[in-house]
Amino acid sequence: MVRRMKNPWNKIALSDYESHMGLSSVLQLQTMNSEMQAQINCYPADTIMVLGIAGGNGLEYIEAGKHATVFGVDVNRSYLDSCVKRYPELEGVFIPIQADLTKPDVQLPQADLVVANLLIEYIGYGAFQNVLGMVKPQYVSCMIQINKDDGFVSDSPYLHVFDCLNAVHHQLSEKDLTNALHHRDYIQLYCVERSLPNGKALLRLDYKKTSLL
Ligand SMILES: C[S@@+](CC[C@H](N)C(=O)[O-])C[C@H]1O[C@@H](n2cnc3c(N)ncnc32)[C@H](O)[C@@H]1O
Repeated sequence: MVRRMKNPWNKIALSDYESHMGLSSVLQLQTMNSEMQAQINCYPADTIMVLGIAGGNGLEYIEAGKHATVFGVDVNRSYLDSCVKRYPELEGVFIPIQADLTKPDVQLPQADLVVANLLIEYIGYGAFQNVLGMVKPQYVSCMIQINKDDGFVSDSPYLHVFDCLNAVHHQLSEKDLTNALHHRDYIQLYCVERSLPNGKALLRLDYKKTSLL
């Protein structure tokens, strides 16, 4: 019998995740929130897919008249349920999709823009390439974490909640991500670094399908 390992993100309560990420010593929730406003508004996109959407951080910037459909993808069903509850004004626009993006047979609809903030760390380059091959976005905007000190999780009272993520965490770099996307015909459009406390930073990297050039 083949036993499928449960994704460790299914063990983490959204309240623990958001409490940790929103600490003033971590500041990642706030940083990704303000970046989302720019990410969803700076490219022409009727349909947006947010990968690893967690509790819907930044969905308040979606304008129902401007964006026809926003897919929110996550492996954790309860996170998606929270998104639906938190944004009733997006009924008919926001579509939750529960999926494990590491599965080679994952099924996803197409979208004009893919946003993936702190998600590629947990699925790796190969799975991200597979997802892009299916969703076929014209634009990709992602944030990855750059560590300037030890460890990918900042110190906090919630630190040990995240121990289970060691098994699925990949350390990324701008160079390797850009190479991986180049192999799928995306070129880099934009890059900005947002400094965080605790010697960490978030790097926003945007890409465009080369056939659009
Ligand atoms: C660090 S959080 C992302 C934060 C979020 N983008 C934000 O702005 O606050 C990573 C998210 O990716 C999801 N995730 C991790 N591995 C996944 C996988 N294999 N398939 C789908 N979602 C995954 C987790 O459940 C979690 O919600």
